[in-house]
Amino acid sequence: MATITFVNEKKEIQVPAGANLRREAMTAGIQVYSGVNKVLNCHGLGSCGSCRVRITKGMENASPMGLIERTRLAMSMAYIGNEDTMRLACQTLVNGDMTVETTPPLNLYGDNFFS
Ligand code: FES
Repeated sequence: MATITFVNEKKEIQVPAGANLRREAMTAGIQVYSGVNKVLNCHGLGSCGSCRVRITKGMENASPMGLIERTRLAMSMAYIGNEDTMRLACQTLVNGDMTVETTPPLNLYGDNFFS
């Protein structure tokens, strides 16, 4: 079992190792989408990029990033400055404890924005 701590929602859930982050969050009633994306999203196919989360602790317990996720995040403004922490919840498997920030804001003035 692994513990996911959702910081914005102040909620902890227990999930089996290898669980899908998006599916477990939604089952627990935690919203990974914001705004219109609550309705308009790709439902876990990895193509819309709207299920972005930041894994602020325990990134080593997340499954490796695949080509689809890497490509989709590279097209996202929100990824800039968050390259070490941002994942798509629908493409992330939870293999151990982690702390997750849902619906992270854009980091337009992040250290890496203009580099
Ligand atoms: S739900 Fe669309 S990329 Fe995750």
